[in-house]
Amino acid sequence: MLCIVLGIPGVGKTTVLDALSEIVAIKRLNFGDYMFKEAENRGLVTNRDEMRKLPRQLQIELQETAARHIHEDSTVGNVVVDTHASIKTPQGYMPGLPEQVLRALNPDAFVLIECDPQDIYNRRNRDSSRSRDPDSVKDIEEHQMMNRAFSAVYADLTNSTVLIVRNEEGKVKETAETISKIFK
Ligand code: AP5
Repeated sequence: MLCIVLGIPGVGKTTVLDALSEIVAIKRLNFGDYMFKEAENRGLVTNRDEMRKLPRQLQIELQETAARHIHEDSTVGNVVVDTHASIKTPQGYMPGLPEQVLRALNPDAFVLIECDPQDIYNRRNRDSSRSRDPDSVKDIEEHQMMNRAFSAVYADLTNSTVLIVRNEEGKVKETAETISKIFK
């Protein structure tokens, strides 16, 4: 089965998937890693936080290349793709999974990880390893709302489901337990 995990930067996708992989045998593929490898090879960026500021057409090309490679790497077992429902670019929200990307990935299920916008704001501020956008709590709230809209479209286009899971402060294990039920 191929499950796509979505959530805005700093909501805790990577942390929750670390916990999920201790509960269920999954192969994890990070969409941003695939995009970054290609972008770096092409000399377009030097860190992953620069990718969302690239011209839209270039980001689309990177998405399509990533989707092709992920498809090749996800033929057996339970595969979880860690990515974004929407990307906040300087021009506005861009779909993380445009139709041609969805068709290449052919997912069975989506999981949308959310939490209190104030917690995301705090988590981003605690993480000095990344160059996060200076979003306010209101901006984070809006981005989470937009992600619900994008996710509903993705589920419709692929005849699949969207499970919305809250990653409450200090409850990583509980969040992972909820997601694990998808694989049973
Ligand atoms: P990506 O690699 O996905 O980066 P990101 O979204 O910034 O994700 P992070 O890994 O930084 O955040 P996270 O949600 O995983 O949170 P984390 O677990 O670290 O994407 C990089 C780039 O690739 C994007 O910016 C974009 O340009 C591009 N990209 C990717 N997919 C794309 C697509 N489909 N189309 C176009 N571009 C795409 O946790 C954050 C912090 O919170 C940590 O300190 C953690 O310890 C803490 N934390 C987590 N959960 C909890 C909890 N329950 N309680 C307390 N603390 C918690």
